[in-house]
Amino acid sequence: MKSIQVNLGNRSYPIHVQSGLMQQSASILSDYNHGQKWVIISQFNLMELFGFDLLNLLKEADFDADFVTLPVGESAKNITEFSRVVGQMVELNCDRSATIIALGGGVVGDVAGFVASSFMRGIEYYQIPTTLLAMVDSSIGGKTGINIVEGKNLVGAIYQPQGVLIDPDILDSLPREEVIAGLGEVIKYGAIWDRNFLNEIASWVENLDTFPYEDAITKSCEIKAEVVSKDEREGDLRRILNFGHTIGHALESHLGYGRIRHGEAVALGMKCAGFISQKLGLLSKEEQSTLVETINRLPLPELRHINGNHLMPFIKTDKKSEKGGLNFVVLDGLGNATTTTDVTEDLIQESLKVLN
Ligand SMILES: NC(=O)c1ccc[n+]([C@@H]2O[C@H](COP(=O)([O-])OP(=O)(O)OC[C@H]3O[C@@H](n4cnc5c(N)ncnc54)[C@H](O)[C@@H]3O)[C@@H](O)[C@H]2O)c1
Ligand SMILES: [Zn+2]
Repeated sequence: MKSIQVNLGNRSYPIHVQSGLMQQSASILSDYNHGQKWVIISQFNLMELFGFDLLNLLKEADFDADFVTLPVGESAKNITEFSRVVGQMVELNCDRSATIIALGGGVVGDVAGFVASSFMRGIEYYQIPTTLLAMVDSSIGGKTGINIVEGKNLVGAIYQPQGVLIDPDILDSLPREEVIAGLGEVIKYGAIWDRNFLNEIASWVENLDTFPYEDAITKSCEIKAEVVSKDEREGDLRRILNFGHTIGHALESHLGYGRIRHGEAVALGMKCAGFISQKLGLLSKEEQSTLVETINRLPLPELRHINGNHLMPFIKTDKKSEKGGLNFVVLDGLGNATTTTDVTEDLIQESLKVLN
């Protein structure tokens, strides 16, 4: 089993990655079982796929375990569902010693983590991510939260889990489009942090049927863990994780949530950001094409013509736009990201042509 440490002093925790890990999860967690109530927060489809097996393993190992489900979809990240889960936990006699297991993708992880951060002023939780995006991104780093009508993730907390358990075999049941979306974030890690990793991904994506998920997840987690360990609260360094996200978020908002997956939008946003980096003289044409060709290997949704004038307002309201200036993440060479305020509106508009 590979274990990666997120180093945050007394809030440090391990990320375990291994095929078949679900079978060992009860024995790994039993070190932390002292008779308290354990609650799996998940979705019913995921309970049927692997949650009930996990519950049985926990019960066989003498855990006092139960489960609560959320609906499927982004709409589960709301205050009503949050209150309902908290209410159910009270009904299950959870107290301050209760421990949550977030079993699911980013939606489950974000809500369950936020419940953990606030239930009786904070209880312990573990992440067992089940989507590729959650395995390489949302389960690590402690960002938790829900949406309000005014915007996504506007209510939340940075609250670290006690551990993250990743079983890449769980991806077997994940719809292919969800896997592809997760690969967008995997490519991001190579682009911003490790040129050799990007080159490896470039060859791996030539045949997606043989893609070595365990290796790619492990490397991605190592990179995310290193960035978060150095900058937990997104001072500066953690911002580079937003590479491709300024235009990506704008595409999500412009097309409407549910029309394009987050990771797909990020993949397209990275093509634009690569173009911008090249125009600023930070990336060579050759490097830009390595990035673009890697992304182009992913079967991404075809976009109808994107009108820059429609996209621009969303780019300007992106939360990375601070004090009037847009803080844009660019590549200063492959495998090395930096932020700049030198990106003009015209350049962003010009970059959108790589999408059409
Ligand atoms: N906290 C963070 O740092 C962070 C980072 C990135 C994204 N996010 C959040 O993550 C959310 C998106 O997460 P997501 O992309 O994982 O989507 P998701 O959680 O909605 O999961 C996608 C779908 O796949 C299903 N599913 C999950 N695992 C499965 C499996 N193994 N087999 C079959 N079906 C499975 C789910 O039931 C769901 O219908 C967004 O709300 C986003 O804001 C958070
Ligand atoms: Zn992302």
